[in-house]
Amino acid sequence: MQVCQTNQQVSDLVSTWRLAGKSVAFVPTMGGLHQGHLSLVEQAKQQADNVIVSIFVNPTQFGENEDFEQYPNTLKEDLKQLEALQVAGVFTPDAQQMYPDGFSTNIKAGHLAEGLCGEKRPGYFDGVVQIVHRLFEIISPDIAIFGQKDYQQLLVIKQMVSEYSLPIKILSADIVREADGLAMSTRNQYLSAKERTEAAHLYRILVQLKQDVLSNKTVDSAILNAEQSLAKHFKIDYLSVLDANTLSATTDNTTKIAILCAVFLGSTRLIDNIIFHPKQTT
Ligand code: PAF
Repeated sequence: MQVCQTNQQVSDLVSTWRLAGKSVAFVPTMGGLHQGHLSLVEQAKQQADNVIVSIFVNPTQFGENEDFEQYPNTLKEDLKQLEALQVAGVFTPDAQQMYPDGFSTNIKAGHLAEGLCGEKRPGYFDGVVQIVHRLFEIISPDIAIFGQKDYQQLLVIKQMVSEYSLPIKILSADIVREADGLAMSTRNQYLSAKERTEAAHLYRILVQLKQDVLSNKTVDSAILNAEQSLAKHFKIDYLSVLDANTLSATTDNTTKIAILCAVFLGSTRLIDNIIFHPKQTT
């Protein structure tokens, strides 16, 4: 496994693979790797000859009062896990590599970034598309894989790739959950033992909401029920039931529904979602 710290090293590495006729799948991360990330890597391995993983905690996607300073740094452990998975390359740039003095490329997130996390975390998706575009430019992968837990991020990145006509195929991987249903996240390690037990209610309530939507309750009344249940355990940041393709209100033409939710448990923000097909009426 080659570990590259500079843009030059990583683009040279990918060039040697290209010369050898190898295809390249890319998994961007911010480190703090858990089973969810490793499942992205497993999927990447099935999609291409060589897999490259980046580890960079991107400052431009954190708001002023967010957890940039305390974001877990587990680089040594992360590298061990990636080595065990026989990843071909890891890119661990510093901020100077990603944003050299005078860096001025201005990539903006499209309209899919407007609501939900985009509304609650102003500037967040602009930061995400900025770094993902930058990494794509340096690495030029054939394929890149993102987790479905960040469902809005996935759509925003697909929109960016389409609008900038980047020749990169974007794939997603299912959410990996703990035994009690909590979606795996690097931020789960912020939870106290008591909060960790409480956190399991989130997925349980979203599953109930899905059942309510499928059993022909109106979306509004199903959401109201779920909000009441959530409020017993969490401070709700948002809860929405939307068309999963457009992130706007569902219509008779909706083919995929997204339940999307963000809550606070103490100072930790958890997000989760369920994507499903509406009930067939015929
Ligand atoms: O999902 C993440 O971990 C980050 O938003 C990403 C895609 C690595 C960009 O920093």
